[in-house]
Amino acid sequence: MSLISKRKSLEQITKEANSHGLRRCLGPWRLTTIGVGATVGAGIFVMTGTAAANFAGPAVVLSFIIAAIACLFTALSYGELSSTIPVAGSAYSYAYTSLGEKFAWAVGWLLLLEYGISAVSVASGFSSYSASLLQDFHINLPSFIHHPMFQPSPEGYGKGIMVTKSIDLVGAISVIIASIALLFGVSESTTINGIIVTLKVGILILFIAIGIFYINPVNLTPFIPESTGTMNFGTTGIFRAASTIFFAYIGFEAVSTAASEARKPQTDIPFGIIASLVISTLIYIGVAFVLVGVVPYKQLNVSDPLAIATNYINIPFLTWTLKISAVIGLCSVMLVLLYGQTRIFFIMAKDGLLPPAFCKLHSRYKTPWLGTLILGICVSVATAFLPIDIISDLVSLGTATAFSIVCLTVIWQRNAHPDLPRPFKVPFGGFKIKGVWIGYIPLLGIMCCLTMIVPLLIDMVASIFHHNPIPMILLVSYALVGFFGYYSYGRKHSVLGKQIQSSDET
Ligand code: ALA
Repeated sequence: MSLISKRKSLEQITKEANSHGLRRCLGPWRLTTIGVGATVGAGIFVMTGTAAANFAGPAVVLSFIIAAIACLFTALSYGELSSTIPVAGSAYSYAYTSLGEKFAWAVGWLLLLEYGISAVSVASGFSSYSASLLQDFHINLPSFIHHPMFQPSPEGYGKGIMVTKSIDLVGAISVIIASIALLFGVSESTTINGIIVTLKVGILILFIAIGIFYINPVNLTPFIPESTGTMNFGTTGIFRAASTIFFAYIGFEAVSTAASEARKPQTDIPFGIIASLVISTLIYIGVAFVLVGVVPYKQLNVSDPLAIATNYINIPFLTWTLKISAVIGLCSVMLVLLYGQTRIFFIMAKDGLLPPAFCKLHSRYKTPWLGTLILGICVSVATAFLPIDIISDLVSLGTATAFSIVCLTVIWQRNAHPDLPRPFKVPFGGFKIKGVWIGYIPLLGIMCCLTMIVPLLIDMVASIFHHNPIPMILLVSYALVGFFGYYSYGRKHSVLGKQIQSSDET
C-alpha cells in the first residue's frame, strides 16, 4: 500500500478507543460544561477590546456573529464525525481514518496551535487580569514582569512592533504551575469544571444584565466606522475582527476529546459540541454589545477591556467579581488546553509520529510527564516573549485550517463509507458532482473557514511592510518545522507504516 494513503481502519481506531478502561459517566449537559469551560476565556475577556479598537468598532458584534456562523458549520461537521467515529483524539483521529497519515500529521500540527499555542494567549490574559486585580488591592506589580518582550505599537501591531525590556513572568510562571499540576495528574474534575463554568458564565450574564442600562447610544454611532485602511474598520474590518475573535470560539470541540468517557457518545457528543457553541455565542454577542455600548471603542485597546467597562459602570462589586472570575476562568481554560494538547501528543506518539517521550507515562501518576514538561517549558517561554495579538492570530489561522479539514473529512467519509451508521448527520443534505457527494454544510464550513483565514494572511503580508515581519516569520517557521518534522521523523517511525511494510513483505 502506498504510504500516501496510509490510513487507520475504522475497526482499528474503535478497538483502540474501547480498550482505554475509562468509566463512561458523562451525560449531555456535563459534556456541554466541558465545551463551555474550554471555550469562554481570553477571547471574550481580552480580545473583544482589541478587535473593536483596531478593526471593527461597535460592529465587533457582527464579527462575533460571522465567526459563530463559521464555527456552527464546523460544529455540525464535528457532530457527524464524532457520532460516526466516537473516539478521543478529535480531528487528528478523524483525519487518520479518512484522509490518511499526512493529513493526520498536518491536523495534529495545527491542533498544536489550537491547544498548545493558544494556551500562550490565555496565559497572557491571565497575567493582565491578575495584575489588574492585584492593583485593586493596592499591590502594584512592576509592569516589566507582566508584559511580554515584544509589544504592539500603540496604533496596533499591524503598524509595527516594539522590543521592550519586559518579560511576562506572571504568565510564564502560571504556565509552569499548570503544567506541574497536570504532571501530578491534576486535571480538572468535571464537578470543579462545572463550578468554574457557572462562575464565569454567571458573571458575564450579570455584566450584560447590569451593563445594558449603562449603554450610551453615542458610543454605538456610527455602528460601522468608516474604513481607515485595508483591514481597519468598514466592511473589511468586520471580517478582520471576525478572524481575530474566531479565537474566542476555540474549545467547543474539546467535547469530542471526552468521547471515551461519554455515556452515549454517538448522540451526547454532537449535542455537547453544538450546545457549547450556541451558549458561548449568545454570551459573546451580549457581552460585546454591552462593552462597545458602555465604552467608546477607541479606549478598548487594552488587555482587560471588560474591567474598563465595569469602571464606567462604577459598581466595585461587579469589577471585583469580574476580575476574580476572569482569573479563575482563564486558569481553568489554560489547564484544559494544556491537558488536551498533552493527550493529542500522547496519541500521536503512540502512533509513532512523535518521539516516545510524549507517551512515556509516569510510573506513579500515570501521566505523560515528560511530554507535559516539554510542552510547559515551550509554552512558558513563548508567553514570556510574545504578545497575545500575534499568537491569537496564528492560533485562529491554524484552527480555521484544521476546521476546514474536519469539514472535508465529512465529505470524504460520506463518499468512502456511505453505509456507516450515522446517529447524527449534518442537516440539509448535499449534491453530487460526477458521483461525488458534497454536503452543503461541510462545503459552507470550508468556505467560511477560508473567509476567516484570508484577512489574517492579508494582514500578515501587510505587516511586513510596516516593519513587523514577526507574524509571517512565525507562520512560515511553524509550517517548515511541521513539514520537516513529518519527513525526518514521523514518516520513518510511523507504527502504521511499519505494520503496512511488514504485511507487504509477508
Ligand atoms: N476560546 C478560548 C479562549 O477564548 C481559547 O480563551
